[in-house]
Amino acid sequence: MTTEDSDRQVARWSGAGHPLPATTTGEFDPFRGMTDELTHFMLVYKFGLAEIGTKISILSEELAHRGRGNPIEHVLPRLKTPASISAKARRIGCPLAFDDLRARIRDIAGIRIVCSFVSDVYTVAEMLTRQPDITMLQTKDYIAQPKANGYRSLHLIVEIPVFLSERVVQVPVEIQLRTAAMDFWASLEHKIHYKYDPRVPESLRDELAAAAEDAARLDRRMELLHREIHGPRR
Ligand code: GTP
Ligand code: MG
Repeated sequence: MTTEDSDRQVARWSGAGHPLPATTTGEFDPFRGMTDELTHFMLVYKFGLAEIGTKISILSEELAHRGRGNPIEHVLPRLKTPASISAKARRIGCPLAFDDLRARIRDIAGIRIVCSFVSDVYTVAEMLTRQPDITMLQTKDYIAQPKANGYRSLHLIVEIPVFLSERVVQVPVEIQLRTAAMDFWASLEHKIHYKYDPRVPESLRDELAAAAEDAARLDRRMELLHREIHGPRR
């Protein structure tokens, strides 16, 4: 059975045997049991991540061989779990059906690229997105326009073709690019956010915003120092 001819009901994926409303709340995980259909749905994102991962590895290795230092410090791929896909679907009011999830949740496959300098973030983004098999779907530049809490990163949603045995599917992948300083800040902010969920005390929020400014200042200084030594990267 293909996803197209399924009746697209949650019950069909979970094997639960009866339809469940999309508003189901509580501990129930509609993806539990991982039917063939769900496994296939998830696999495609895993393949998309592998394709993007290969592209990033190639860039990273080739740039390292150019002898000017590798702009990519580290890479962190992640696949959303079925539980977090269903949680996000409920949050955004997306029906728990494969076609709807495919269309509306575009960060099931995600990869974070941590670069040394801010200019590297844009260079690596440009090197990836100019590849002809990559289609850019969305850009959010939280470096040019940081979030109110101080969060900075460049977010791209791209689409990449995955060649299956009988067809080609376009798979969306969220790419987050940031500097090591931005990453350091974001991981601490993430922990604080979770600890105080839903409300971070105001003093802590101010402190976090100030720390984000410090991190941005450090990035600017490091970039200048780097240019002093090497000139702008080519
Ligand atoms: P999600 O539904 O969470 O994916 O958000 P969105 O669709 O509005 O997308 P956005 O591009 O704003 O954020 C996507 C991802 O970026 C999040 O899931 C986080 O991984 C990261 N992110 C965004 N904002 C913040 C933030 O304020 N702090 C931290 N630590 N991470 C953030
Ligand atoms: Mg997300």
